[in-house]
Amino acid sequence: MSDADAIIKAATNKPVDYSPGLEDVVAAKSRLCEIDGKAGKLYYCGYSIEDLAQNSSYEEVCYLLWYGRLPRHEELEDLRRIFRETRELPTEVLGFIEHLPHKAHPMDALRTIVSLLATFDLNPENTPEANLKRAIKLTAQIPTIIAAFQRLRMNQKPVAPHEKLGHAANFLYMLSGEEPDEGTAKVMDLSLVLHADHEMNASTFASLVTASTLSDIYSAVTSGIGTLKGSLHGGANESVLKMLQEIGDPNKVEDFVEQSRAKKARIMGFGHRVYKNYDPRARILKEYARRLSAKTKFSRYFQINDELEKVMQDKYGRRGIFPNVDLYSGIVYHHMDIPIDLFTPIFALSRVAGWTAHVLEYWQDNRLFRPAAAYIGSAPREYVPESNR
Ligand code: CMC
Repeated sequence: MSDADAIIKAATNKPVDYSPGLEDVVAAKSRLCEIDGKAGKLYYCGYSIEDLAQNSSYEEVCYLLWYGRLPRHEELEDLRRIFRETRELPTEVLGFIEHLPHKAHPMDALRTIVSLLATFDLNPENTPEANLKRAIKLTAQIPTIIAAFQRLRMNQKPVAPHEKLGHAANFLYMLSGEEPDEGTAKVMDLSLVLHADHEMNASTFASLVTASTLSDIYSAVTSGIGTLKGSLHGGANESVLKMLQEIGDPNKVEDFVEQSRAKKARIMGFGHRVYKNYDPRARILKEYARRLSAKTKFSRYFQINDELEKVMQDKYGRRGIFPNVDLYSGIVYHHMDIPIDLFTPIFALSRVAGWTAHVLEYWQDNRLFRPAAAYIGSAPREYVPESNR
């Protein structure tokens, strides 16, 4: 028993089952996602992330997560059609986005507008079918929110969703006003596939906690976005790019790591609660980052990352701290001329499928999340009036 556990046991007289950060605590059963952290393996509904990255699309992965199986051709086409038909935002919502401070962080804008969308949904139906429809519509609309905010803050008019393009290509189109080439759209689609779900990560857990009170799906996704924003979770992709800018040169990597170690600061894009091996998503993205960076102005970032990996392997590899998904996603987005503060919103744009799939699954056998806290404060004591303190 550790010292902390002994103190808690003495203070509470309860058996110790305290796990800081809920490490290794199983909080729900799920058929959606499995991680083998030691082997560095990830599966959605039994399909390996490598297979999905190579053969699937974001729309197909959404179907897989929501329905638990791969779609037949016409089912996939149907989902693609529904996405296309529900992408538009109500005009009033666009008006709200226009009034958000242009300097606001896009994650704050996204969280606010998703929350706002609840007030436009006056349908009282609360069936699994109605909630799945809401999940699909939210997933379709989130790219429109991010792109509209991006354009409005640049004093540009929002671009209406494209009538034909797929999810990833349409997002890029709404950002720039130009149809992306096939290769760029494919890489964005691949990145969305890689980020769509990840078992009981912090933002999914936050969504589930909210949903478990029998709140609504908008509130659950709003919780998810707020939780994803932090730099220990989805916000790390933005922090990685800032770190690469700060390091500036592959020759400065060793010093940077040493100085960070001395300050006990984390190196962004490394480490994971579950993976004690190379994150398989990072491995896939690294290859794309390598190809995209070759002979471009961004090749320096790739070289810095490559050097970082070597230095980190040397200093932290034995402790199970390896590259995670956020190490290379930023380089990929940077190559598409996407502003750094949109990196985490893009993570949300994809992860909304996972959040909603987990919420819909959890509601099938809902139980309120209500853990306990070990009280380590004062014993009961007498109240002292203000004049006697
Ligand atoms: N750089 C330096 N030291 C680290 C790092 C890192 N990136 N990650 C963990 N450690 C050390 C940490 O300092 C601690 O050392 P000690 O035992 O000496 O105090 C030890 O490893 C255990 O750390 P922990 O915080 O207890 O481990 P955790 O499971 O709570 O942390 C993590 C997981 C992701 C928060 C952490 O690895 C981290 O802060 N990484 C950097 C941020 C990052 O890249 N986040 C993205 C995660 S992957 C995408 C996602 O799912 O959101």
